[in-house]
Amino acid sequence: MIGIIGAMDIEVDGIKSEMQETEIKNIAGLDFVKGNLGGVETVVARCNPGKVNAAACAQIMALEYNPELIINPGVAGGIGEGVKIGDLIVGESCIQYDMDTSALGDPVGFISGLGVIEFPCAKETAAKIKAEAEKIYDGQVMDGIIVTGDKFVSDGEVCLKLKEQFGAKACEMESGAIAHVCYMNNIPFVALRSISDNANDDASVDYPTFAKAAAAKTVELINAVIDKI
Ligand code: ADE
Repeated sequence: MIGIIGAMDIEVDGIKSEMQETEIKNIAGLDFVKGNLGGVETVVARCNPGKVNAAACAQIMALEYNPELIINPGVAGGIGEGVKIGDLIVGESCIQYDMDTSALGDPVGFISGLGVIEFPCAKETAAKIKAEAEKIYDGQVMDGIIVTGDKFVSDGEVCLKLKEQFGAKACEMESGAIAHVCYMNNIPFVALRSISDNANDDASVDYPTFAKAAAAKTVELINAVIDKI
């Protein structure tokens, strides 16, 4: 069983609509759609934006479906000059940039209890997905660090800081939380993020303009690659 979690309908509806023999279970107000996607047993859920929404959804999925892999497709703000709207960032690792106990001497992003900052994505699976993405994307397909926080970033200076502090190529609001839950449950995890904006002063205009098309690309990618991973 492969698990797929997206924050918004635009990130998962086009996957759900390709599934056959579906069974829906509603838990904690979230629909978990289990079925056959391209011959692969899959469970798909929309978690809603933000880290707590994402973590709750991932933990329910882990306990209820015991997936062997969880993928988090969706959109993100691009960080750095080389990352453009329409590109894909295949997660190398995910970091919660707003987890901050630095006043107590910890590095920013340090996850108490687990003793880590970065949650690495499953390398071999990410490489297979990247190879498929290269056939599908018009923009660049890049590996990179994805950072997560409970904020829609629309500030060039924040972007610069996220780049300097973590080497981030994209920022969003869920993957670090899902990766954290996967780590706790020993489930391999991959984050895939199409760039919808540059997380700068233009982001509030770019996001509503480009998010739908960017999300459609990760949907297309999941549907194309599901039977190859
Ligand atoms: N998802 C897409 N764009 C984003 C941004 N700029 N900040 C946070 N999450 C995002």
